Amino acid sequence: MQEIKVTLTQNKKQKPPVEGLGFGNYFTDHMFLMDYYDGRGWVDPRIVPYGPLSLDPSAMCLHYGQEVFEGMKAYRRPNGGAALFRPDKNMQRLNVSNDRLCIPLIDEDFCVEAIKKLVDIDKDWIPDGENTALYIRPFIIALDPHLGVHPAKHLLFIVIMSPVGSYYKEGINPVKIYVEQKYVRAVKGGMGFTKTAGNYSASLKAQDEAEKKGYTQVLWLDGVERRYIEEVGTMNVFFKINGEVITPSLEGSILGGITRMSCIEVLRSKGYRVTERRLSLEEVVNAADNGTLEEAFGTGTAAVISPIGELIVGDREITINEGKIGEVSHLLYDTIVGIQNGTVEDTFGWVQNV
Ligand code: COI
Repeated sequence: MQEIKVTLTQNKKQKPPVEGLGFGNYFTDHMFLMDYYDGRGWVDPRIVPYGPLSLDPSAMCLHYGQEVFEGMKAYRRPNGGAALFRPDKNMQRLNVSNDRLCIPLIDEDFCVEAIKKLVDIDKDWIPDGENTALYIRPFIIALDPHLGVHPAKHLLFIVIMSPVGSYYKEGINPVKIYVEQKYVRAVKGGMGFTKTAGNYSASLKAQDEAEKKGYTQVLWLDGVERRYIEEVGTMNVFFKINGEVITPSLEGSILGGITRMSCIEVLRSKGYRVTERRLSLEEVVNAADNGTLEEAFGTGTAAVISPIGELIVGDREITINEGKIGEVSHLLYDTIVGIQNGTVEDTFGWVQNV
């Protein structure tokens, strides 16, 4: 394994108060960097003081969006230590995104170790408060100073970290979701299954319009028939209809969430019937009409579990579970957050100590 060179900061920042953290507003004292050069591979892994990068204005990531990222969290444990939740899955998914965007693959085990080392150095930044964690953002950008459209030969892998509270101002309380029927996010054969900047910039217009109407996020439909449910802005989505917990199957245009995967495993272990399949908007609306739509919620690293209290379909407002937090959302929140924080036994072996 390559040695990670560490340069510690001489100017530690003051930590923000836990109450006002929000999401992604503050950054820790250090960051991880590693370069890729064609012919040399990934080299020079290093932890350095957090600070601005110097980029050539022609750096390819700025023009063609050759970029991938991940989202994961470090949690404070009851013994004062720190832990990560399924970091191996994040690094695996990063390589899936890398492959689609012609970015050289990373050594997954090495990168998990590098992230653990960075978290250990900045572990004082893991906030200690309900619904808080240290959000970790690994990302890779293309640096070649070049305006031709080709895969880059010089790239930079970076990890930054941010102490965060809830992603939504609603916290665990139900959100209002607008079903988007004008814009689409992704199509099969595109990049919808990857975590890359372009998927998120493609979502901004719809998100902005939904927010102006007073809704939290949009629910995307498939880009071809505009019929099947895909995902919500920053989350995967689940519906409980007549006792069956349904989440859209991963067919190329949806992000394979690690929280999604974990929720499926938790629910199956507790005896719930969970199905990954195509789910049409029509089926959800019919279920609302005939009283079998029992619950809906989103899942994601940033949002954790976010119950959906209202779904806006055209002119129609569908209230789900009387706008209250449902039984399945509660169970998942308590189990997943409990495993992450160390208050619920990790029978799945998902947590890795730092
Ligand atoms: C995450 O849940 O980690 C995400 O990547 C969502 C982010 C875009 C805020």
